[in-house]
Amino acid sequence: MSGFPIIPLSDPIPLPAPVWLFKVLHGTVLSLHFVVLQWVLGWLLVGILWNLWGRARNNAAMTAGSTRIASSLPILMTYLINFGIPPLLFTQVLYGNFLYTSSVLIGAWWISVIFLVILTYSALYAGGSRAANGRAWWGFGLLALIAGVTIAKIYSTNMTLMLRPEAWAEMFRGNPHGTSLPSHDPTLIPRWLFMLSGALTMGGLGLIVTGIWQKQTAGEKGLMVFQGGALAVLGVILQATAGSRVIHNQPGAVLEKLNASAFYHTLPLVWIGLAVAVAVIGLLAISSREKASSWLAGAAATLGLLFTVGTVVYRDGIRDASLSVQGYNPWDLKVVANWPVVLLFLGTFVIGLLLLGWMAAVALKATKVKPAHEEVAA
Ligand code: HEM
Repeated sequence: MSGFPIIPLSDPIPLPAPVWLFKVLHGTVLSLHFVVLQWVLGWLLVGILWNLWGRARNNAAMTAGSTRIASSLPILMTYLINFGIPPLLFTQVLYGNFLYTSSVLIGAWWISVIFLVILTYSALYAGGSRAANGRAWWGFGLLALIAGVTIAKIYSTNMTLMLRPEAWAEMFRGNPHGTSLPSHDPTLIPRWLFMLSGALTMGGLGLIVTGIWQKQTAGEKGLMVFQGGALAVLGVILQATAGSRVIHNQPGAVLEKLNASAFYHTLPLVWIGLAVAVAVIGLLAISSREKASSWLAGAAATLGLLFTVGTVVYRDGIRDASLSVQGYNPWDLKVVANWPVVLLFLGTFVIGLLLLGWMAAVALKATKVKPAHEEVAA
């Protein structure tokens, strides 16, 4: 048998829009997906700890903060899911022949994501309703966090396995039932940890933004801004550590391809610059606490987004470099653009994003939280 991997052919139907447009759309929505997913995981961690600590120590600001988090999480989860579906479609268009194969190889796990998402969502709702009644919700929070971290592991595994056609045949011979979840690829665990440590960064930045922009007591604002700053600083340090392992552990041929491109050679430096800027925002938040002003929230939101875009663009470069080593280049896909349909799609896409932004702004301003003295023991 030949030692070369068998790569399924791409769909013969031409693309209805240029490759660059699919790439831009994919990067835009995937960045939003990453921001929200890390925000949700980070807030789950903070909310659980504040709920436990606040009740044990009778700390009103922490208890109120954890209630605020619990009431926001079901809303954030809708954004997480809705920002996940479009990049799944765009990835299938550009890399379907790789993604379908890796998804089938871990089929049982891949299908389980649906049930894990339902479990996460239900736990967030149950936790939110307990918090609204002044009861402890950390147990449901922990359930949602464990399910979310597991989903993240399944995603990281699939997104890594799709880049390794040379491993597919042996994996299928070893287990054709789709029940194995391989974890021996040296890039996988750093990649997963990179995504998880981003939860501290985005969760922290989210605390700074909401701490400043939402109406609340000075005590709550001080707590959210201070702890948000500390988390953001810790998060970028951990992400930089995990990210350097992701790059370092890439196969030599992939690294060569990345370094041969001036763009991908420079991008890690830009990313480090953004990481330092996020850390500076975190330090400013730590020092200003309840005195933090609106511009800090604006800077935290903007930098959080740019930092994630940098991650998504480099991640895309790793995928293209890995697949070009296998002889696949998405830029070679046949295109027969259908411009009226593309323009109609772009119009609805932009309107959709504006509506989502407007709903987020309304939700940010409208969240009402019971004052801490109304909280009763569960
Ligand atoms: C709690 C729920 C979820 C979590 C924790 C989560 C986590 C993740 C993580 C960690 C990655 C990055 C994997 C990597 O590159 O290493 C990822 C990518 C992705 N997620 Fe999610 N996800 C969730 C829900 C969803 C849902 C519901 C969808 C859509 C149906 C979705 C669609 C995607 C897509 C399409 C990608 C990667 C796209 C690409 O590589 O081009 N996610 N997700």
